[in-house]
Amino acid sequence: MEQANANEQSILMAKGNEKAPSQRETLLIVDDEAAIRKLLRQKLSREGYRCEEANNAEQALNTLETSPIALVILDIKMPDKSGVELLPEIKSGYPDTAVIMATAISDMNVAIQCLKQGADDYICKPFNLEELSLAIQKALEKRHLQFEIREYQQYLEEKVEEQTGEIRKLFLGSIEALVSALEAKDKYTGGHSRRVTEIALALGNELGLSAQDMEDLRWGSLLHDIGKIAIDQIIQNKPGKLTREEYEHIMTHAHVGAEIVRPVVDEKITEMIEHHHDHYDGNGLHQVIAGSDIPLGARILAVADAFDAMISDRPYRSALPITDIVEEIKRCAGTQFDPVVVTAFLKTVGMTK
Ligand SMILES: [Fe+2]
Repeated sequence: MEQANANEQSILMAKGNEKAPSQRETLLIVDDEAAIRKLLRQKLSREGYRCEEANNAEQALNTLETSPIALVILDIKMPDKSGVELLPEIKSGYPDTAVIMATAISDMNVAIQCLKQGADDYICKPFNLEELSLAIQKALEKRHLQFEIREYQQYLEEKVEEQTGEIRKLFLGSIEALVSALEAKDKYTGGHSRRVTEIALALGNELGLSAQDMEDLRWGSLLHDIGKIAIDQIIQNKPGKLTREEYEHIMTHAHVGAEIVRPVVDEKITEMIEHHHDHYDGNGLHQVIAGSDIPLGARILAVADAFDAMISDRPYRSALPITDIVEEIKRCAGTQFDPVVVTAFLKTVGMTK
């Protein structure tokens, strides 16, 4: 906490230091009268500002496009496009640029309208140069303050995101530990989720998944069977053939698992867990989607999960030889498994040329 406060303070101090030399900033004087532009440039240059000039709206927009303008002094009455028409374009294209409207006394209502449309201030012609100078200073200070507030907000948002990430990591780590503990209780499933994760990541790698998708796949794989916490152990370890009801009961673990992790993980991971027993051809139990509608992570998990199940002893059979497993996975390409994932699997286990 102290560290956080120190960081916050250093950010504010750093910004405070940036704020002082506002004279370094560039101003744009937009006025169709050359004499007025000259007068303003002389005064403002003496105060240390850099000055650009434009004699119409088009020139003003060109200058804004090419130079970092902190503030525009915008004449309301100009031939072609008026300052009133140009103001919304400046505000939408360059929201960080302050605008001071320059107006004749008779334009006061228009000036007030401009303030409503986002102008920072207005000054009346003929100019009182000291008043103008103060108005510029005030508008630039307000602009700095807005930058500071925005940066501080960003800093806070990053902090919250960082801490949310930490909490999420801790939570997922705890669930992972719980999965390992659950699996360790059972001699048939000990280490299953870890092995499935290794296989799934190898397949993901072969399929060229992005770093983010690989991270999601890692969590989806580690947690895919968390729903087994709700499954009757006697049914799960039954040595003989399962009845339809028993099979249906076991298969609820996919949905239960998705619901357990839903509050803390991305939708992608939840979906992966929810669909990890879906068949590619749509013929799995109570399945609602098929083919490429099944999330890729779930299609990868299906192959990795089946591979690890077949390579391990089960209460009702011994581990199968690798050649039989490969044949079985090949046989199920296009029905239970996504053929693309099966191809990646065959490459991974070195079974293709
Ligand atoms: Fe499962």
